[in-house]
Amino acid sequence: MKKIFAANWKLNKTPEQAREFVIQFKNEAFKHADFFKTCEVILFPQAFGLEAVSSLCAGTEIGFGPQNIYFEKSGAFTGENSAEVASVALKAKFALIGHSERREIFKEIDGQLNKKNILVQSLKMTSVFCIGESLQQREAFQTLPVCFAQLDAGLAGLDQNVRVIVAYEPVWAIGTGKVATLEQVAEVHQAINDKLEARGFKSFQILYGGSVKADNAASLLKVPHVDGFLIGGASLEVSSFLNVCLAN
Ligand code: 13P
Repeated sequence: MKKIFAANWKLNKTPEQAREFVIQFKNEAFKHADFFKTCEVILFPQAFGLEAVSSLCAGTEIGFGPQNIYFEKSGAFTGENSAEVASVALKAKFALIGHSERREIFKEIDGQLNKKNILVQSLKMTSVFCIGESLQQREAFQTLPVCFAQLDAGLAGLDQNVRVIVAYEPVWAIGTGKVATLEQVAEVHQAINDKLEARGFKSFQILYGGSVKADNAASLLKVPHVDGFLIGGASLEVSSFLNVCLAN
């Protein structure tokens, strides 16, 4: 099974910088024999960069998609991103849903995220659906209940025969340089795996996210049920992103 390396560029990169990244990344990746046989790469540019990424990645092995979509396809929803446009016009096959920054800063709630996942699936795209606990929740021993509640609510009503990707991102590990320990990652990924199986999902992968870098990637990838990463800071430069992929 290929490991997944998903780049969340957040609110960074102009379209030109996104284009340069893809061109350079393709050049570098193809120097490594069988790169795309062992690595599945997904890029999440900000909305203004999606067309640039699409023009260079459509028809290649590099997946891409928006960092957020609205749960209606079109209409009077000023300021939102259309999943249908991403899918049909830009050929995006993925969408990032429920990132903790969306939940916290933009107050997105479980019911909305569930509608987004359902729309993404109806468009034959794949969600990278993010879950994870805050530091306060971890310290209150609420990690698994919080993750389970987010999973149950977010994935309700989805077709379990269709692929879904879950990204476990402990909020306290995002952009802080604090990586969850291998034991913490192992516990949560095992629990998510068991939960998804119990819910009848047949095709899923579970990514870890939170201060992933080249020097911690190899050990994290050996943890059972870590099927890849969702990477923020280290995905912004081709060299650091590629080095995380090459830890595979
Ligand atoms: P960092 O890799 O910068 O910690 O960000 C993780 C993240 O939020 C990816 O979605």
